[in-house]
Amino acid sequence: MSPNRSKFFNPETAPYYDPKEDRRVVLITGGNTGIGWYTVLHLYLHGYIIYMAGRTESKVLKAFEDIKKEAELRNSKLDKIHPVGELHYIHIDLLDLSSIPQAVKAFSEKESKLDILIGNAGIMGVPYKVTKDDYEIQYQVNFVAHFLLILELLPYLKKESKSGITPRIVLLSSIGHNFASYKHFKPEQNKLNCFPNSIYTWVRYGIAKTSEIQLVKQLAVKEPEILSIAVHPGIILGTELYNHWRELPIVKYAANAVFAISDKVMGVSNEEGALATLKACMSPELNLKKDNGEYFVTGGVVEKPSKNASNLKYGEETWDWNVKELQKRGFNV
Ligand SMILES: NC(=O)c1ccc[n+]([C@@H]2O[C@H](COP(=O)([O-])OP(=O)(O)OC[C@H]3O[C@@H](n4cnc5c(N)ncnc54)[C@H](OP(=O)(O)O)[C@@H]3O)[C@@H](O)[C@H]2O)c1
Repeated sequence: MSPNRSKFFNPETAPYYDPKEDRRVVLITGGNTGIGWYTVLHLYLHGYIIYMAGRTESKVLKAFEDIKKEAELRNSKLDKIHPVGELHYIHIDLLDLSSIPQAVKAFSEKESKLDILIGNAGIMGVPYKVTKDDYEIQYQVNFVAHFLLILELLPYLKKESKSGITPRIVLLSSIGHNFASYKHFKPEQNKLNCFPNSIYTWVRYGIAKTSEIQLVKQLAVKEPEILSIAVHPGIILGTELYNHWRELPIVKYAANAVFAISDKVMGVSNEEGALATLKACMSPELNLKKDNGEYFVTGGVVEKPSKNASNLKYGEETWDWNVKELQKRGFNV
């Protein structure tokens, strides 16, 4: 069960770019905290131009300050220093779908192409809520908002592929997708509200995370010139993802005990949690023929996801239903 660290991706083996000569552009959702913070740190150290799409500007700017300091510290210990990239803020709130075309517009005013899109932001195991866009909250933040963002950014990714560089889409799913593997949930069941919520919230998380893997597999079919990878980053107890359960009255004692055991048995650090994403973004060994639509787990090891997540027919249902729902809400997809 314990992760085999000898198989973890080493970001230092990936190419470094000089942003003055080769402008490699990344857009990541979240990233101001948790594993996304380390993803951004390493991409910045490798010379990438990073757009961090977040909902709170002050948090993103603070993350930039800390990432720049950490990069300077790491570079000060090296004999050969590589030029660092650039860090830019873009406003996005995945709980408000109207913010997505606005974020894409803001991006298009600065860049003409996109190399890597990372759907990193997420929430987990939160109480039942329906968003103002009329989706279950975990389904919207983890899946629908990223689906819309991907559809809106496809032209910018495709532009890069015309120049001979393979653009990449990386979506942070989770081993938790298996919570929804005991039966086939249709996308219209995203608002599943059964008792007790403390159990069904995990099924809803599983539905959202299964949909993300289905999306990656559909992208591999529908957009074969883009390398799309789904990731389970590992069990990382040091991020803010578990905060809701850590703070629940009474329940928090049991939850924290379970978290402590999970951490001991299979936990990895926040930085190790970024490695699977970094491999999907940067490894020169990946290619469209052998890796498109794959699912990476902790450290970047390839694994098979659940049958529901791998089923292309189910994936197509998820895609088609969601396109229609977005169109009903006025999005031009
Ligand atoms: N940690 C784990 O053990 C684990 C395991 C499997 C999968 N994952 C997945 O890995 C990804 C990153 O998780 P993490 O552990 O790094 O979590 P985290 O520390 O809680 O970070 C989540 C990020 O998502 C952002 N976010 C949440 N809601 C948002 C919204 N409505 N609009 C825009 N941004 C929003 C957060 O921004 P704010 O700071 O503004 O809230 C934060 O930057 C998630 O997709 C998660 O499901 C994590």
